[in-house]
Amino acid sequence: MNLDWIHFYSGAVLLLILVGISQKRTPKRHIPIMISCFVLDLASVLYLEFTRDAVFEAYRRAPESIMQIHLFFAITTLVGYFVALPTGILLFKGRKHLRKFHKWNAMVFLIVRCGVFITSFWVHSKV
Ligand code: HEM
Repeated sequence: MNLDWIHFYSGAVLLLILVGISQKRTPKRHIPIMISCFVLDLASVLYLEFTRDAVFEAYRRAPESIMQIHLFFAITTLVGYFVALPTGILLFKGRKHLRKFHKWNAMVFLIVRCGVFITSFWVHSKV
């Protein structure tokens, strides 16, 4: 296991996600917090790509099962964000029937985002 500041960053974003979810009944706070989490998570992926060649590294280590699990969690997290955005916007505009779907997506999202955080301690590159 290899620890560096990016884990603290990822853990801090995870805490912010929990804060955002705790504000789920107050869109004025919930929406900007969740969009900020999305931007912060994307920024960390871009940072890892530009400084540690993360995509190539993931491809190179794809046969490792921990990397496969990590990639599954990471890609599903991204899908979760891309589902949350439009359903959240439509929900805000009054399409209340989407609330259940938005909520289910949120539950899956939370599990896989925690999965990204936990597995990142084992797939982390030493470069
Ligand atoms: C991954 C990111 C997100 C997660 C995990 C999340 C999670 C949640 C959860 C758990 C609820 C409560 C659902 C319920 O109990 O019925 C909720 C409500 C809501 N979310 Fe999100 N959300 C996310 C992103 C967004 C975004 C990006 C937007 C808008 C652009 C948004 C807009 C809303 C709105 C409008 C509500 C309903 C608030 C109300 O009760 O009036 N969410 N969200």
